Amino acid sequence: MRASDKPSIKYRRAKMRHMLFTSGPNRISRGRLFRKHFDKRITVKRVEIVTPLWPKEFDGIRIGHISDFHLGDLMPMERALAAVEMLKNEAPDIVACTGDVVDLNALGAEPLFEAMANMNSPLGTMLVLGNHDELDCVSTISNMALRSGISLLRDSRCTIIHNGATLHIAGIDWAKSQKKCAAKVNQVCKGETHLLLSHNPKAFSAASDCHIPLTLSGHTHGGQLALRDKPSTNLAVAHKHSSGLYNADNSRLFVSVGVGAWFPLRINCPAEVAVLTVRSA
Ligand SMILES: [Fe+2]
Repeated sequence: MRASDKPSIKYRRAKMRHMLFTSGPNRISRGRLFRKHFDKRITVKRVEIVTPLWPKEFDGIRIGHISDFHLGDLMPMERALAAVEMLKNEAPDIVACTGDVVDLNALGAEPLFEAMANMNSPLGTMLVLGNHDELDCVSTISNMALRSGISLLRDSRCTIIHNGATLHIAGIDWAKSQKKCAAKVNQVCKGETHLLLSHNPKAFSAASDCHIPLTLSGHTHGGQLALRDKPSTNLAVAHKHSSGLYNADNSRLFVSVGVGAWFPLRINCPAEVAVLTVRSA
């Protein structure tokens, strides 16, 4: 259900796209498209990330990374909660969600935020918003996240104290271009930053310029259609960094291909939750 009385132009455009690529074709296929989509399993991807810039007191920390639920027609609440449960079973030290929690409508997402907040990760759950979270009502989404106890980073920072050391985490709101991402990174990441959450992976160029050890992103969905055994050759052609792990000097970027979808098809690009073990040497 929609939260705002007056849908924005961006909302109306996204709704139209949804009808053209998702709900319309599904109706024509008499529901077969959605059924096939829901038959596909969500996978757990485990990745080790090594960078000498990572603080040694946090060596071996396990980050549960989840992104792009797109709660809505293609991601019913039960499927979203099952994905959270999959990640919870991995017992990550910290959970990071990099946005697009909802696809179109803001209302009704509370149980998902509560599940993410209750994953029992000892160092908490962090969230940044994606472009889809801004389509309906960004304050409704933000309030749901905050009420559930999630640390929502909207062009802001937080710290985690562990083993007597401090991990500095920054999160930026959605920005479309590399230039706008860079402006946000330069503004928010003044001072020491170890972990940056940005829905758009285009923030990585500025993040590596600032020597930020690790950036986590989503947004691209890995193109949803990729060449077999070549996940980076995919439909997300507007993105230099679209799937998996990237290096720039000693900075690292991990781009999740997402747990959800914006159209009901994934080929050679399975939906995923990720467990990232970060090493300092
Ligand atoms: Fe997305």
